[in-house]
Amino acid sequence: MCGIFAYTGTKGKDASKVLLDGLLALEYRGYDSAGIYTPESGAVKTPGAVRELRKKIPADFKGKSGIAHLRWATHGEPTEVNAHPHSGGGDIWLVHNGIIENFQELKDMLMEKGHEFKSGTDTEVLAHLVEEKMNEVRPSFAKASEGKKSSVDQGLDGLFERAVLAALQEVHGTYGLAVQYKKEPSKLIAARMGSPIVLGIGDGEHFIASDPSPIVPHSKKVVFLEDGEMAVITPEMHTIYKLDSTQVGREITEIDWSAEEAQKGGYEHFMLKEIMEEPDAVRNSLRGRLLEDGSVRLKGLESVEDKLKNVKRIIIVACGTAFYAGQVAEYMFEEYAGIPVSVEIASEFRYKKPVIESGTLVIAISQSGETLDTLEAMREGKRRGALTIGIVNTVGSTIARETDAGIYNHVGPEISVASTKAFVSQLAVLALLAMHMGRQRGMKDETFASIAKELKLIPEKMEKILASTGAVKALAKKYAYARDFLYIGRTYNFPVAYEGAIKLKELSYIHAEGCGAGEMKHGPIAMIDRQFPTFAIALKDSVYEKMCSNIQEIRARKGPVIALGTDGDSLLAKIADDALYVPKTLDMLSPLLSVVPLQLFAYYFAAAKGYNVDRPRNLAKSVTVE
Ligand code: M6R
Repeated sequence: MCGIFAYTGTKGKDASKVLLDGLLALEYRGYDSAGIYTPESGAVKTPGAVRELRKKIPADFKGKSGIAHLRWATHGEPTEVNAHPHSGGGDIWLVHNGIIENFQELKDMLMEKGHEFKSGTDTEVLAHLVEEKMNEVRPSFAKASEGKKSSVDQGLDGLFERAVLAALQEVHGTYGLAVQYKKEPSKLIAARMGSPIVLGIGDGEHFIASDPSPIVPHSKKVVFLEDGEMAVITPEMHTIYKLDSTQVGREITEIDWSAEEAQKGGYEHFMLKEIMEEPDAVRNSLRGRLLEDGSVRLKGLESVEDKLKNVKRIIIVACGTAFYAGQVAEYMFEEYAGIPVSVEIASEFRYKKPVIESGTLVIAISQSGETLDTLEAMREGKRRGALTIGIVNTVGSTIARETDAGIYNHVGPEISVASTKAFVSQLAVLALLAMHMGRQRGMKDETFASIAKELKLIPEKMEKILASTGAVKALAKKYAYARDFLYIGRTYNFPVAYEGAIKLKELSYIHAEGCGAGEMKHGPIAMIDRQFPTFAIALKDSVYEKMCSNIQEIRARKGPVIALGTDGDSLLAKIADDALYVPKTLDMLSPLLSVVPLQLFAYYFAAAKGYNVDRPRNLAKSVTVE
């Protein structure tokens, strides 16, 4: 999730200072490299953080306007050459957040026309496309007038505006962007498709940003662009257009958040913001990967495609929440690809003497890509001859670099220590991989089609759950007395029970325990009494009746029960003390929905106690030590 900030003003401010301060306010979004451009002094870029960029900027660097960027790599490693802003090879400079899906096709076309590329990024292709459109449109402009008029007055008839519009009409994918043309330095163009863009409206100055946080210190007046819109700004004015060239009127929003609140998008905590982002996280993880011809495209695995066909056994290594995602995947791979799977706690696996036969695939799952135990477990598998792949969110991280191949989650940085949107993305990616390997092993067209159909519906179903969080919040309040909590589930929701428990214990510091519902009678049920509630995941699936029996057993011992059921189930409310519901989906995909109320429950439970939800005591976001 990159950060964009752009500025144009007549108030005599030093644009580089404004831009660097803005980037600092965006650093919370995550970054691996940074860059800045002003028409007067050109571009300065660097891997690393804003403070590295500040060190590199020469004392005589100047400008009244400019564009700046924090990169979170998607295409190409986090290097100086891949950092934004990117040039189109002439006077066009551009910063971008998102993924240009047809970048290879566009790049081939542009190379044929003589464009030369320096980086491995999709963004550079976009910059060259705008430059190419400038070349195409330019002949229809009188040379003498170019660059002299303030072409905001010309609507979309200006050379720069027409070129950007023409380029955007050829692009597929997602973007939030800011573009600058050296010969019209006070003008900036912004556009949005899938990646947020907000305009800041000041007195004699205007801004473009990924979110209001860098704008708020200058102005509280903002305008949010919507998908398919483009805006032209100068110090004095802003004009918004749709990509079909019609002008759009948009009210100015008065921000009443502080800069810190702005980073959280108005939510009290990053965790809640990240839970609310889950539908988009799943969309981003699926984008471009489920093809109409009944196949899954996982570009990061192309180099090991043949080896994947010969895999006979899978070992998944991971820690914490990523481990529970791996356990859900065990059910997916065994049911749909017929491959035996073992899921290993990475810190144990690395010190075992594991038996790795030929045909073994080791999958390392890690949001950060830096968890030391997962990294070492993956290395152990590699040393013993296994094929290794990573399912990682952080591009260019150590696990991503050291595995033979991999799949990125593409969900943007997760700030809150508790993993939420990364977990649902891991499940979505693992479902894609199970479908892919299932297809290689003869999965039927109808089976593939039904999973694909349901997978695409998951974001909408998540939105339905997230639209009414009041019932979960009320339950968190009702059960606030509890010092212990049991979570039970079966099959696909057996690992989700553990995930619900880890969320509650890490945020609330109370004892919470996951348990396979069938295992309860072998010990844990002894703990149950009036003060010891249970969260039971009892969806309308293949083990529904068994779960209902387990609920009755707990109730018979006076244990309070919150049941999580499927929409339309009228029995649960009668046999449990309280019930929450999620929409129906395939059993295999149900954890993507059932985990959401559990995450919300843990969040509200801890937030009501006033705990530091985003940074629970004793924990770190990335565990890079043993
Ligand atoms: O970055 P990773 O996915 O490798 O992190 C693994 C665990 O440390 C992580 O999932 C941890 O369990 C979370 N705090 C749980 O919410």
